[in-house]
Amino acid sequence: MKANTLTLIVTGYRAEAIDVASFELQAPDGKPLPEFAPGAHLEITLPEYDGAPSNLIRHYSLCNDSSEANRYVIAVGRALNSRGGSLAMHERVRVGSILRVRSPRNNFPLIEDAGHYRFIAGGIGITPILSMIHWCRAHGKSWSLLYCARSRARAAFYETVAGFGDSVRFHFDDEAGGVPADLTREFADEGASEHVYCCGPDGLMRAVQEASAGRAAESVHFEWFSARQLSSAQPESQETAFDIELQSTGKRFRVEPGTSILETLEQHGVSVPFACREGLCRTCETPLCGGEADHRDYVLSEEERRAQSMVMICVSRALSGTLILGV
Ligand code: FES
Repeated sequence: MKANTLTLIVTGYRAEAIDVASFELQAPDGKPLPEFAPGAHLEITLPEYDGAPSNLIRHYSLCNDSSEANRYVIAVGRALNSRGGSLAMHERVRVGSILRVRSPRNNFPLIEDAGHYRFIAGGIGITPILSMIHWCRAHGKSWSLLYCARSRARAAFYETVAGFGDSVRFHFDDEAGGVPADLTREFADEGASEHVYCCGPDGLMRAVQEASAGRAAESVHFEWFSARQLSSAQPESQETAFDIELQSTGKRFRVEPGTSILETLEQHGVSVPFACREGLCRTCETPLCGGEADHRDYVLSEEERRAQSMVMICVSRALSGTLILGV
């Protein structure tokens, strides 16, 4: 099957927990799909739904075993503050629905040679972790999981995860009287070449960031679902204008405070790909050929930030007067 844009059919639909449904996708002719690695996600163009903008694109982590060649499985939580994305999936998509999907991409890759994998998942954040656990089990790796949810009934894939045995520790808010999970216990001992992978709501991610502060940054990995406040080198209230130059044509445009590079390009009729517009998906990744970016995305590694060779133009700004973009 040709990479990039795929047309897939929904072959399975299952309620996995309160407000969480899983969807199995296959090629209409049943042929193998492009491969994916644990932590990868699909970019799906959603069906129209009441009042939501058309061609809305959302990203959903693949949660099945990456060795399965003929299917993708995603799970979608029904978000109360949904801008139409999760509602469209829950209300409009059923077995037989056709979806336009981009080949899997991975912003949350699993290091393959860790001595131990410590997974921490909150709510629907279990989805990328699940594909990672499948991989660890298939490759005989040492791993453990702390899975936090508001209640047992809201924990997606509860039975599957419970079946993994002693490597799993659950924390349900209602059963713990609202007391948050004890993260100090998670970080009390550090195994040899241990790597931490965390995905979940903002509060849990921040708590894990704090609890893991003593660890090497490159050994703690996060997958953010929504934009969080960054301690940026240039807070929004103090944003200043800067210039961008397009390497292909030499055209220069001014990016005003409060306007993104992406919006500036759109205003001048320059078409560039985008999806989340929040620095989460990497769709707008653009080569940086000159200047120094103020990276405000959630996907570049520290090494990539230092390299200053690419920039997410939906959120990032400039530390230098001009950025030269490879467009
Ligand atoms: S559009 Fe998603 S990172 Fe820029």
